[in-house]
Amino acid sequence: MSATGPPQGANSAPSGGSELELSTTVGAHHSSAPILKVTGLAKAFDGVHALDGVSFEVGSGERVALIGPNGAGKTTCFNLVNGQLRPDAGAIELAGQRIDGQPPQAIARRGVGRTFQVAATFASMTVRENVALALLAHAGKHGAMLAGSPAEIAEGAQALLARVDCLDIAATHCATLAYGTAKRVELALALAGAPRLLLMDEPTAGLAQGARAALMRLASELALRDRIAVLFTEHDMDVVFGFADRVIVLDRGRIIAEGTPDAIRADARVQAVYLGTPTLARNSSSLPPEGAQ
Ligand SMILES: Nc1ncnc2c1ncn2[C@@H]1O[C@H](COP(=O)(O)OP(=O)(O)OP(=O)(O)O)[C@@H](O)[C@H]1O
Ligand SMILES: [Mg+2]
Repeated sequence: MSATGPPQGANSAPSGGSELELSTTVGAHHSSAPILKVTGLAKAFDGVHALDGVSFEVGSGERVALIGPNGAGKTTCFNLVNGQLRPDAGAIELAGQRIDGQPPQAIARRGVGRTFQVAATFASMTVRENVALALLAHAGKHGAMLAGSPAEIAEGAQALLARVDCLDIAATHCATLAYGTAKRVELALALAGAPRLLLMDEPTAGLAQGARAALMRLASELALRDRIAVLFTEHDMDVVFGFADRVIVLDRGRIIAEGTPDAIRADARVQAVYLGTPTLARNSSSLPPEGAQ
């Protein structure tokens, strides 16, 4: 088996250039082949079954929340999909091609971007330098827009900074950024690889309520614009119900429910797992308006 596999041309979503108008498809079903298909995924640590035969799909451009109590296996699932961990069993396909067992860099090059539970940037570098470095890391990838010349990298960095509204802080060192701003920069770093699938592990952890909605709104807009699928874990049910097209519920390594936000909110098994989490029962499908505290 080759380390990098064949080029992705045949399966690549159109990138750049075409203006896909998807803003009205939120919540709709996506008919195209799944960008991610996970089948029978299993991973144990010292006999503890972190994931125990998990199967699900994420459609192209779809926003899926993977939720569940602490220790349910959410981060383990992400670590398997992006290659940080090897599965004990099961298959992971990206746009129909197996990626399980490949190293993280190869999976990133195939179009899987990731943000982390704690924002990950190079603290001693400026925001612009961080973004440029991320672009350089992905330059030369098959089908990439950038050839990697300094001028092209600078231009790409400028465009990415504009997309995440960080032009005014481009020269700021990441170490001095407010946490919410660092999360926006981290989003730019994840987008630098022109992902087809973006994994976001608790993107709003550590943020105030208003900042949570703002970050998710931004991620959601950018994902819709470029038809990037988003798989995110989240403990904040306002974020889950406000931004997911579909919700998958994990408990002790197994999927116990899957469906629309409304169906999940009404699901008795899910409510039992979340007993003592009053936010689940709350009718909170809408988020505070832009600029709210
Ligand atoms: N590297 C590891 N070594 C040993 N056990 C691990 C490791 N990673 C995860 N686990 C165990 O696997 C189970 C699932 O953990 P995981 O981090 O995937 O849960 P999670 O759903 O992301 O939880 P949280 O909501 O707290 O982030 C837990 O029992 C955890 O202790
Ligand atoms: Mg986790």
